[in-house]
Amino acid sequence: MSLKGKSAIVTGGASGMGRASAVLLASRGAKVAIADIQADKGEEVVQEIKARGGTAFFQRTDLTVRKDVKAVVDETVKRFGGIDVLANVAGNAFHKPFLEVDDELWDRTIKINLYGTFYVNQETAKVMVTQGGGRIINFASTVAATGGADLPAYAAAKAGVVTLSKGIQNELAKHNIMVFVVAPGATDTPLWRRGRTEEDLARMQRRLKFGRAVKAEETAELVAFLADDTTGHMLAGQTFHTCGASFMGF
Ligand SMILES: NC(=O)c1ccc[n+]([C@@H]2O[C@H](COP(=O)([O-])OP(=O)(O)OC[C@H]3O[C@@H](n4cnc5c(N)ncnc54)[C@H](O)[C@@H]3O)[C@@H](O)[C@H]2O)c1
Repeated sequence: MSLKGKSAIVTGGASGMGRASAVLLASRGAKVAIADIQADKGEEVVQEIKARGGTAFFQRTDLTVRKDVKAVVDETVKRFGGIDVLANVAGNAFHKPFLEVDDELWDRTIKINLYGTFYVNQETAKVMVTQGGGRIINFASTVAATGGADLPAYAAAKAGVVTLSKGIQNELAKHNIMVFVVAPGATDTPLWRRGRTEEDLARMQRRLKFGRAVKAEETAELVAFLADDTTGHMLAGQTFHTCGASFMGF
């Protein structure tokens, strides 16, 4: 598979699955714009891609701010001539039991996971409509389907991402835009490790079907597959659960 000459935006490209996706898309030949709030880490990824002979730039982008989103979309079009692929990987989760969730936590969670998806999908789709097509890959979570526990706002936001993606697909298919959802199960990234001890992580992994979390690089392979032109339209609108490693019983 080759993504030679394609232009891609990767949100959340400074860390975890976004980082792995940015590096893999670039290694397959795509020119990559990394949109993230973490400037140091984002620049590190750009250096890694360039060291391997790839093309990338970083632009500090807060996905919850529409003008930031519009700015990175405009910059990508200016530098790369269009946007073939949006890998919208950025997201954040804050654990809190439902009865303790306050308005601030609710808003913050919905803002990054759902508003961010709305802004970047809409600004990117405007470009894709004009150029006659493109691919959008949005990141949800297995908790979008299960509800999870201690993550009510996040689960609701990610369920929103799944449904929004289906609606966008229905509307934009006529413009040759394909929308996919990746819904990760437990995946070994800084987000998954945050606030957990090595003991916690080991205990959680023992409960997983295959006894280990998914690696970010494994999810990146799915992103690269969905980004490739050879992935036909019969897969568009679908949600891909990386649930091989999800909790038993899912
Ligand atoms: N790791 C898991 O087990 C897991 C499970 C289910 C779903 N997910 C989802 O997968 C995606 C990737 O998660 P990850 O585990 O790689 O996390 P991560 O924390 O390693 O990476 C997420 C990236 O998103 C960026 N980000 C956060 N808020 C942002 C904002 N407002 N604007 C721009 N960028 C922002 C962060 O700076 C970070 O670089 C997320 O959408 C997450 O919700 C992860």
